[in-house]
Amino acid sequence: MCRDPSGAIFRARVRLIRTMPNNVVLKLGEKELTFPVVVGSEGEKAVDFRSLRAETGHITYDEGYGNTGSCESAITYIDGEAGILRYRGYPIEQLAEKSDFIETAYLVIYGELPTAEQRARFSALLTEHAPIHERMVYLFESYPRDAHPMALLGAMMNALSCYYPALATNDHKRDLENLDVAAAMALSKVRTITAITYRMSRGLPVIYPKRSFKYCENFMHMMFSDPYEHFECPPVVARALNLILLLHADHEQNCSTSSVRMVASSGANLFASCAAGICALWGPLHGGANMAVIQMLDEIHATGDDGSRFIANAKAGKSRLMGFGHRVYKNYDPRAKIIGKACEELLNTLGIKDPLLDIARHLEKAALSDSYFIERKLYPNVDFYSGIMMRAIGIPINMFTVMFAIGRMPGWIANWKEVASNPKGRIYRPRQIYTGKTVRDYVPVDKRG
Ligand code: ACO
Repeated sequence: MCRDPSGAIFRARVRLIRTMPNNVVLKLGEKELTFPVVVGSEGEKAVDFRSLRAETGHITYDEGYGNTGSCESAITYIDGEAGILRYRGYPIEQLAEKSDFIETAYLVIYGELPTAEQRARFSALLTEHAPIHERMVYLFESYPRDAHPMALLGAMMNALSCYYPALATNDHKRDLENLDVAAAMALSKVRTITAITYRMSRGLPVIYPKRSFKYCENFMHMMFSDPYEHFECPPVVARALNLILLLHADHEQNCSTSSVRMVASSGANLFASCAAGICALWGPLHGGANMAVIQMLDEIHATGDDGSRFIANAKAGKSRLMGFGHRVYKNYDPRAKIIGKACEELLNTLGIKDPLLDIARHLEKAALSDSYFIERKLYPNVDFYSGIMMRAIGIPINMFTVMFAIGRMPGWIANWKEVASNPKGRIYRPRQIYTGKTVRDYVPVDKRG
């Protein structure tokens, strides 16, 4: 898009006239320009338009960034058409079956699966940094009891920069030198903060982490133990939680991760950047969808509908089928396949009969055979079943998105690290097509009508 001399926006005649092995030739008016093609390690291609504005005065227009590669990244590979997700090259199906959240977190952050020694060191760091600064508990006291857990998590993540300023200098070189500790803090404390939020919202005493517990067991202990009674976390619950977190560990350049990178690109520290990710994740079109799915299923259940009416409304554009559709997956979200199966197994093992699972299965079946959903390539995403699983292990609905944030922490840390360690990194600063008023003179207040 550009402007004609009268200022009106029109679509310029820009034609991609041919591609050559390593170049693309673009015809803009009478001018022919050559741009290089960038090829990723899985063969995905992009036209490198970085010199477009300097050479032509034009920018690329891509609202919502659906067609924009904002960076190079070596963390996660997704092929949305084929339904493929890999962390550092490892298929999500293999990690879900054989790994656990902490090992996968290490892989995402450091790029390789840890040796036994590296794994032990990482676990020790997480254990050491599980408690929060005692004065931070006062911070919780000053927030309303019914504050949304995502609002609190964002605030507390940012507050870590106040309590640990040596790890949050906003000098990327220094912050990278201390990243092992800062990353362990973010990853470990995010679950402590979550548990304290839950306890305080219910007027319950804060439960401190235990050194002998593993990551997920420790979280459940801080959530559900009491000073007079220890909560014994059943292994099946710890496994389910591990799986939920592992499946959320990273997902390339989604809204929250892009926000983390955006903030990091200005030189900001890890905690500030992750706080931005938490805020972006909160929205119902992103991490908030897992709450919205349960609300939707509850609503359907309460009205006695089996889901058919809801599907009709979604097709008429009156509502959205939450937990369905994805910007990148135009095939089954591989995480949804894994979690759908795990959800069924968990409920069976715990002997829970949840009518919402029946409605979800019915909705999925109906939607997958309906032309509206087939034509738009709308499949269940990871949020469709994760809420039912979290409900089954006792996580309250208003904390679902916080659970997503705990899971996504390794991805945010790894993406922050990538931005901070890029020697050629520039501040992220997209451009825009201005559609406001053209220049006009100031009008004094008595002349305005
Ligand atoms: N229910 C019904 N129709 C839908 C849905 C849905 N869940 N999602 C998309 N559509 C329709 C749109 O109305 C549109 O139809 P049209 O072409 O007739 O206008 C078409 O499918 C394309 O939709 P877009 O909104 O353009 O797709 P986009 O890629 O921008 O959005 C998104 C993706 C936000 C995930 C969307 O599918 C959605 O709102 N889903 C429900 C919310 C959700 O589950 N979010 C979680 C995403 S996964 C995650 O963050 C972990």
